[in-house]
Amino acid sequence: MKKISVIGGGHVGLVSAVCFANSGYDVILCERDIEKTEHIRTARPPFFEPSLEVLLKKTIDVGRLRVSTRIKDAVSNSEVTFVAVETPIKPDGSIDLTSIETSSAETGEALRGEEGYHLVVIRSTVIPGTTENVVRPIIEKRSGKRVGEDFGLAMQPEFLREGSAIEDTLNPNRIVIGEYDKRSGEVLERLCLDFYRGKAPPIIRMNLASAEMVKYASNAFLTMKISFINQVANLCEKMKEVDVVKVADAMGLDERIGRKFLNAGVGFGGPCLGKDLRAFINFSCQLGYTSEIFEAVLNVNERQARHVVDLAARELGGLKAKTIAILGLSFKPNTDDVKDSPSIRIINELLKEGASLVAYDPRAIENARLILGEKVRYASSALECLSDTDCCIVATEWDEFKRLSPQDFSELMRKPLLINGRRIFDPGVYGKSLRYVAVGLGASR
Ligand code: UGA
Repeated sequence: MKKISVIGGGHVGLVSAVCFANSGYDVILCERDIEKTEHIRTARPPFFEPSLEVLLKKTIDVGRLRVSTRIKDAVSNSEVTFVAVETPIKPDGSIDLTSIETSSAETGEALRGEEGYHLVVIRSTVIPGTTENVVRPIIEKRSGKRVGEDFGLAMQPEFLREGSAIEDTLNPNRIVIGEYDKRSGEVLERLCLDFYRGKAPPIIRMNLASAEMVKYASNAFLTMKISFINQVANLCEKMKEVDVVKVADAMGLDERIGRKFLNAGVGFGGPCLGKDLRAFINFSCQLGYTSEIFEAVLNVNERQARHVVDLAARELGGLKAKTIAILGLSFKPNTDDVKDSPSIRIINELLKEGASLVAYDPRAIENARLILGEKVRYASSALECLSDTDCCIVATEWDEFKRLSPQDFSELMRKPLLINGRRIFDPGVYGKSLRYVAVGLGASR
């Protein structure tokens, strides 16, 4: 079995390292942040991800996963290195490749004195052309070695979702391998076949830039589905008794369309989709091409949080001095991540209008507090959050919220007005005893 190193202890890096280690590989995870390293070493993941803590503890306890702060240590003690460092964007939308450049330089230094073939696999989301034009020359220069001869280079985009990252890693629907040369692709394909032990999904091989493009195009397509259905939803609201959920269910049965990512709501958020779309727009500009669709998708999304706030304002006759309960702070359920969360966008809009806010989230309060401070009051349960409020906005579809009954709202709230931003309650049931407004739901006759 190959010895593996993973550079970067974020979502992709840590989850991949733990999954490899749990499957019997010897893995070294390299993370330069000392505090994060300490967390990982003591089996406390620095973020919440279902099942991760248990698996991390298991792999650390049996000694399959080792953590280091030094790339040299990681690269020298492995045959394949996966690079999963962050690739944020700058204010103009262009990609910030600092971490990719630094890790490539250190990987090159580490390879300098090594003997034998080493494969470097980029897993970070990078603009098409980056592996060939940025990673390759840096590693070659720092190592004094030549790609294709002394080391291999591949790009394997990741498609895992936060909240189901382990499940997605263990059961992906495809593996995309971008390869500098045949040998690099072959080594990586063999590793994948070995990891999935006869249950590998389709593996598609291509050149480096095509694989980089697959990642951006896939995320952009997902955002397009969401913005598309949000526009349909906003149109449904203008009609009597037209419900976007029914429309999406029926559309989704057409295999050419599919039901996934047709959930209308408060817009998409999180650390990836918005960032990648902005980087893709910037990239297309650099190539002198105007990407009308991507720009429209982004604009629609930026307006969707405001749309939900407008629904509340319309129902309450203004927001000033109204007390509003926000259920959900994370950008999606099963994560404590609030990066670019639509809920935070909604909260900021409501604060601008002078509303007073109380919020609850099963996991994300601590992270939300880092952004919002004490501008919002934080409740310790969903029921406490509803108490004495004029309106409740559901911003994240946590399972815990689905258990709230119509009575919970009507008994606890001052004026039971429910704005369902995530379509988790049946309007036929909740609409009977509450003032119930939902994204994509036309008024009843
Ligand atoms: C996304 C992609 O789904 C992954 O395939 C990809 O690997 C990842 O980005 C990445 O680039 O790293 P993630 O951001 O974790 O994964 O979460 P998603 O499940 O895609 O949800 C993103 C946002 O879209 C959430 O705010 C969610 O609520 C929203 N969404 C999703 C909708 O509003 N409607 C839908 O129908 C689906």
